[in-house]
Amino acid sequence: MKSSKKKLLIGFGIVFFAILSGCSFNQAPDQDKVSSPPPEQKGKNALPIPPLLEDKNPADDVAEFYLKAQKSTKSFLDGVETESYGYNGDYLGPVIQVQKGEQVKVHIKNELGDEETTVHWHGLEVPGSADGGPHNAIKPNEIFSPSFTITQPAATLWYHPHPLHKTGEQVYKGLAGLFYIEDEVSNRLNIPKSYGENDFPIVIQDRNLREDGQLSYDLNMMSLMHGMHGDTPLVNGVFDPYLEVPQGKVRLRLLNGSNARIFQLKLSKDNHFWQIASDGGFLEKPVKMDQIVLGPAERAEMIVDFSQYKQGDKVQLFDQDVRLMNFIIGTPEKEKFEIPDQLTTIEKINPPSGTVTRTFAFQGMGNSVNINGKQMDMNRIDEEVQLNATEIWEITNIDNGMMGGMGMPHPFHPHGVQFQILERNGKEPPENEQGWKDTILLMPGDKVKTIATFKKDGVFMYHCHILEHEDAGMMGQFEVN
Ligand code: C2O
Ligand code: CU
Ligand code: CU
Repeated sequence: MKSSKKKLLIGFGIVFFAILSGCSFNQAPDQDKVSSPPPEQKGKNALPIPPLLEDKNPADDVAEFYLKAQKSTKSFLDGVETESYGYNGDYLGPVIQVQKGEQVKVHIKNELGDEETTVHWHGLEVPGSADGGPHNAIKPNEIFSPSFTITQPAATLWYHPHPLHKTGEQVYKGLAGLFYIEDEVSNRLNIPKSYGENDFPIVIQDRNLREDGQLSYDLNMMSLMHGMHGDTPLVNGVFDPYLEVPQGKVRLRLLNGSNARIFQLKLSKDNHFWQIASDGGFLEKPVKMDQIVLGPAERAEMIVDFSQYKQGDKVQLFDQDVRLMNFIIGTPEKEKFEIPDQLTTIEKINPPSGTVTRTFAFQGMGNSVNINGKQMDMNRIDEEVQLNATEIWEITNIDNGMMGGMGMPHPFHPHGVQFQILERNGKEPPENEQGWKDTILLMPGDKVKTIATFKKDGVFMYHCHILEHEDAGMMGQFEVN
C-alpha cells in the first residue's frame, strides 16, 4: 500500500499511468497459481476467424438466427482441455451481421446445464423487452426469441450474457460475440469489407489459467476490488496468434472483451492506424492514431496500411509492451482501398431548452461499489425517461484516488441508446470520441457530459462495465415510456 502522503503528491497524469500499468500483464495476476502458455506456444497458432452466422430466413428484409449458449472444452494450453462456454461452439461465438432496416429474430437456447443466462445486444437500440438484460432470463433448456428492427447506422456491436450477478463469470468462461450492422454508408465506402480477408474481427481478452489449465473464476480481494484480470492475453480466444494479411489496407474491428482490463493498443515499428469507427458507428473523418486506449466493452474500427512492407514481414499488435498478436504480410491486395476524407455525417445533438440533466456518481469499493449511493435492485426503477426525450447525463467517477480511495476506473454503459459526448473534464472530447458511443471510460476523478435521445421504450440498465463491479451492484435501471 502506498502511503497517503505519497498519494497526495502524485498528479492526475501519474494516477492515469499508474492505473494502466498497475494491472499490466507483467505484474502479479489476481490469482496465486497460474500457468501461462509456455514460450513455445508463442506465435504458433493462426488467429481463428469466427464464422458468420447463417441467416435462416429467405426473405430479403428479415433475418433469422439461431444461437445456443453451451458448455464445451477448448485447448488454451497445448495438450490441456479447459472447460469453457461458447455460443454454437467452444469459446466466443459467431459474428451476426445484419442490415439497417432489417427485421431480426434470434432464437437463443440455453444449454448451459443448470444456470440461467440472457443474451444482451450491447449497443443495439431496441426496446427493453428485447434487450436481453437481467429481466430476460432464459432458464436451462429454454428458448428466448426476441425480435427487433435495426434502426441505427452501421456499427460493430457485440452480444454477451447479462444474468443478474453472474455476468462476469459467464463472459469470463467464453460467452461473447460480435454483432455487425451494415448500411448504405458502410456498403458504399471504398474501405476493406471482405469478412476474414481484409476485414477482421479482433476480440481482445485476458484470462487466468490455473495450474491445472482450467479457467477459474474465484474472486479474491484484488479481483473483487479491481475486477478480474488475467495474465494470459487472448485474441479471438487464442494466445499470441498470427494472421496473414494482404499487403495493403486492412480493417480491424477491435473489441475489448475483457472483464476489467484496460488495453492501451499500438502497433510495432512506429506504425499508426486510422480509427474510422467508435462504439456506435463511423466517425465523420478518420482519425490518425499512434495508440488507442480501450476500456472494457469499447470498440474501435481501424484501418492499417501494410502496403509499405515486404511479403513475409511481421508487424505486431501490443498492449503497452505485451505482444497480443502478429500480422504476417502476404500477397498484395486485390483491390485498392482509400482512407476516405469523409466517412459519414453525424448530426450533433443540441440540447433543447429545458433539457433534463441527470447526474450519476460512481463510487465505493469492493462489495460496496454503487451509483449515486444505490446498488442494483431489480424491483426499483432509478430513472424515468420520457420516450423520445433528449437528455444530458453527467457521469462522475468520484474516487480520484487522492482521498485514500483506490482510484479505480469505471467504464459507464447505458443500454438501448447511443450517445454523444459533450464534454470530457470540461473540454471538448478528443476527435475519436466525437462519434457515437455506448460505453465511456472514466478514469479516477473524470467527469463526462453525454447527450442522447431515448428512442426505444422499456426498462434498461446502466452500469459500470467492469463486470465484477456490475455484478457487485454498480448498476441501476431506467425506464423509457
Ligand atoms: Cu455490455 Cu449491460 O452490457
Ligand atoms: Cu449493453
Ligand atoms: Cu467500475
